Amino acid sequence: MQATQTLTLEDLTSFCVRKGFFFPSGRIYGGLRGFYDYGPLGTELRKEVLDDWWYFFVRRRVDMVGIHGCIITHPKTWEASGHVEAFFDYLVTCTKCGREYRADHLLEDYGIKAPTLNAETISSLIKERGIKCPECGGTLGEPAPFNLMFSTFIGPKRTKTNEAYLRPETAQLIFLNFKDVYYSMGMKLPFGIAQIGEVFRNEISPRGFLFRLREFTQMEIEYFINPCKLDDCPIFDEVAQMKVKLLPAETQEAGSEETVTITLQEAWEKGLIKSKWHAYWIGESLKWLSRIGINLEKVRIREHLKNELAHYAVQTFDIEYYFPFMGWKEIEGISNRGDYDLKRHQEFSGKSMAVEDDGEVVIPHVIEPSFGLERILLALIVEAYKVSRGHTILSLNPRVAPVKVAVFPIVDKPEFVKKAKSIYANLKEHFTAMYEEKGTIGRRYYDADEVGVPFAVTVDGRSLEDDTVTIRFRDTKEQIRIPISELVPTLKRLME
Ligand code: GAP
Repeated sequence: MQATQTLTLEDLTSFCVRKGFFFPSGRIYGGLRGFYDYGPLGTELRKEVLDDWWYFFVRRRVDMVGIHGCIITHPKTWEASGHVEAFFDYLVTCTKCGREYRADHLLEDYGIKAPTLNAETISSLIKERGIKCPECGGTLGEPAPFNLMFSTFIGPKRTKTNEAYLRPETAQLIFLNFKDVYYSMGMKLPFGIAQIGEVFRNEISPRGFLFRLREFTQMEIEYFINPCKLDDCPIFDEVAQMKVKLLPAETQEAGSEETVTITLQEAWEKGLIKSKWHAYWIGESLKWLSRIGINLEKVRIREHLKNELAHYAVQTFDIEYYFPFMGWKEIEGISNRGDYDLKRHQEFSGKSMAVEDDGEVVIPHVIEPSFGLERILLALIVEAYKVSRGHTILSLNPRVAPVKVAVFPIVDKPEFVKKAKSIYANLKEHFTAMYEEKGTIGRRYYDADEVGVPFAVTVDGRSLEDDTVTIRFRDTKEQIRIPISELVPTLKRLME
């Protein structure tokens, strides 16, 4: 099989559009930058990944509940959270043609890593390096902060007092509902609240297909812990011996990108990860990413530099995946947010955010695993995309594959078609399934492989005689023969 290194972003984008995973939104009108619609296969893939996330992080756990908050949020939320003041990127505008650029991306194109630079440094770097507008060669203006939140108006008046924001993260809805969840569900610390939902960021330069969007989906957990018990994690054993590739802030500050391979236990003992609960959530996240088909060999845990930390964060690690066309990029962030958010909402609302734990009244500290769905889908597809003897195979894990099983009559004669269609109708009650009778059987197998169908059921001559069928495996091309009556339980077992 051809390695994924040869895969370009253009190849991947065109494959995903051609096969009905994603479409540029409003394509017939020329598209909208930073917005993609999900096609039929993308929609199924999305649902499988979200359902598995919800199962893994919410339903199977005893310490987690979910909420589903609003997209348009009380304006005070974002004053309290610090987003009105601090959620911005620097924008530079060409004084000649008026084109606008995100300053750090522009500098990155000149080999300067700049996610953490302030306005003065950006301005002097642009002058020193003689950086001009990439489009017209014009002089670039001074960098100006640009807030990334989309706003709208509530009610008929389009005035400042009626302005509200579309949420740029789901997290704040969890903080707003924290006390209601705590009381209504009788929760006890430590516990988590999870949420899946759309968020909106007015990115200056959306890029990288699904990587940087203006509308995307987050899967977030805020895990609330007594501040005196940040290292009291009774379930740490479940992850303690997991080995991770860690890139500490200190290493990066010394100019190196060399990771250290270390167990989570050691990383915590050496103080590289400050709290045990933080290390636990890194482990749980990795377990889930691996469960859905991300190769952990291509994952590293990069600590944020001090001046890179978000305004709310005590310590943050990015889970980065190695994309062949972009290098290491964040697919999930795991932050220790301390008590920043609850304290700020307490201050701005005048309502106490304290709760009781073992007779003590505390404002909990928070560990936040925050996954971006579309970046994870991008990594999953990159991981699964392979070319073998000129044929594309999408080796998606059966757990998340958008179509689980294909049904083919070996030839399109009526007796074969009739039997295959009745099998297809039965399988559709249990799995996402596809049916095709036209074309050679080889061609139909290839078409199913290309969209990641893990199993193909074929009705052949013998099926008519003894009510058996073959199951063909996408990745090995092996086939087994089983009675039709055992198809559903066999496929269920294979999918697990
Ligand atoms: N509540 C914390 C938070 O929102 P973040 O690092 O800004 O943290 C979390 O976002 C995750 O959301 C990222 O790890 C990434 O996967 C995803 N994400 C962020 N910005 C994105 C964008 N413009 N397009 C697609 N996904 C994005």
